[in-house]
Amino acid sequence: MRASTVRRATTVGNTMRAWMTENYKGPLVCREVSIPSITQPNQVLIKVKATSMNPIDCRMTEGYGDQILSTWSQFESFSFQRPSRLPLIAGRDCCGEVIAIGGNVTGVNVGDEVIAVVPGPWAGSHAEYVLTKSDAVAKKPLNVNYLEASTLPYVACTSWAALVSVARINPNNASGIRVLIHGGSGGIGSAAIQMLKAWGAEKVVATCSENNMNYVTSLGGIAVDYNSQDVKDQLIAEGPFDVILDCVDTDLARWSDKVMGVWRNSVHVSIVSPMLKDTDRYGIPFGLLSTAIKYFERSCGSIGNGRWFSYAYFMPNSQCLNQISEFIDNGKIKIPHIEKVYKFNEFPTAYDRCALLHTKGKLIIDIAEESLPPKIDSPPPSPTLSPYHPGTKSVPIIDLKPPPISTEPPPVVV
Ligand SMILES: NC(=O)c1ccc[n+]([C@@H]2O[C@H](COP(=O)([O-])OP(=O)(O)OC[C@H]3O[C@@H](n4cnc5c(N)ncnc54)[C@H](OP(=O)(O)O)[C@@H]3O)[C@@H](O)[C@H]2O)c1
Repeated sequence: MRASTVRRATTVGNTMRAWMTENYKGPLVCREVSIPSITQPNQVLIKVKATSMNPIDCRMTEGYGDQILSTWSQFESFSFQRPSRLPLIAGRDCCGEVIAIGGNVTGVNVGDEVIAVVPGPWAGSHAEYVLTKSDAVAKKPLNVNYLEASTLPYVACTSWAALVSVARINPNNASGIRVLIHGGSGGIGSAAIQMLKAWGAEKVVATCSENNMNYVTSLGGIAVDYNSQDVKDQLIAEGPFDVILDCVDTDLARWSDKVMGVWRNSVHVSIVSPMLKDTDRYGIPFGLLSTAIKYFERSCGSIGNGRWFSYAYFMPNSQCLNQISEFIDNGKIKIPHIEKVYKFNEFPTAYDRCALLHTKGKLIIDIAEESLPPKIDSPPPSPTLSPYHPGTKSVPIIDLKPPPISTEPPPVVV
């Protein structure tokens, strides 16, 4: 693609700060690196104002998904060799400002404030700039600030993949549907409960810890404490369910197949898939085979009762992002609870908290530091020993100033 087809707001500096891992056993480090540039006509360059933490970020910096995601990059780049993912910048979503777009991009323009997700194999948004695709971007909702807007893109796209693409729920057929969500108070659960309620689902029951029951109820779900003595009786009483969305893969989640409808085409969708772990462990062919065997084992038990089982995976989806933006603006869904807002230099602490898998709602990193963060609850305890802190290994943090923004006039738009 010719560079002249790229549209830019201003000429930005050449470098940005990014948090990354340079080897999978090492800590997170902050480095100054080149700002990514647009190489394909469907790409969008975003100046990140806020980004969120997702458990996948913690796991990716430890090597999770290396095999499959580097092979995916190899296919995307038509390369003979599988590219290394290191140094790896994690971060799968953001709210920010469009700085440049490729010639084929429609729907967003330079200068627009947007919400966006970043495809799995691409360098992520835990940086001052990120590159993504046009079908992974939507205009930012107007009624919320940039911190709040960054809570939903990745979790909404993952929920959409599970609920719409796999379970085939949509606003037109949701009215009589009963759904059970395992992990209702986390990022995915918070998004999924609200999307289902906005579509008019008849009943959304969600498991969570006792501490988070009020939160799940406030989102519109029927909260069930997964530690209560009679949790199975409660689920039996609330069932049968047409759809189970499993965000935790616990014994209770597997048992809950029993509270699905029989011969009603009910589906159990799990977003906790063994595929990335299996391919990392056994390589691509045997890893996929191992996942397929696990899938068939799970499915066999269901098929006999006229139910089915599936894994679901995050996919960028502009239709989902546009609907989320619209739902926020017209009040159909609320921003999930923001457990804590971290500053750019606090990324390692945010990784520590996220890795515990007990986030209430979302963890946000304020990169632009433009406005006051929304009200937050008391901060959670931070673990003392952390694999993410630079201080635990002798790797320096480079503390750099943000890249200069040039005041030169923009290049000619073609
Ligand atoms: N397949 C994909 O493409 C994909 C995409 C995104 C995420 N995921 C996976 O999905 C999972 C959830 O992601 P997330 O962003 O929602 O994580 P999260 O924000 O960290 O939330 C995890 C939630 O799980 C709850 N939880 C922990 N133990 C539980 C249990 N035994 N029963 C029920 N709930 C329990 C926690 O609630 P309490 O504190 O109340 O216990 C917490 O709210 C992660 O494992 C992530 O890797 C997969």
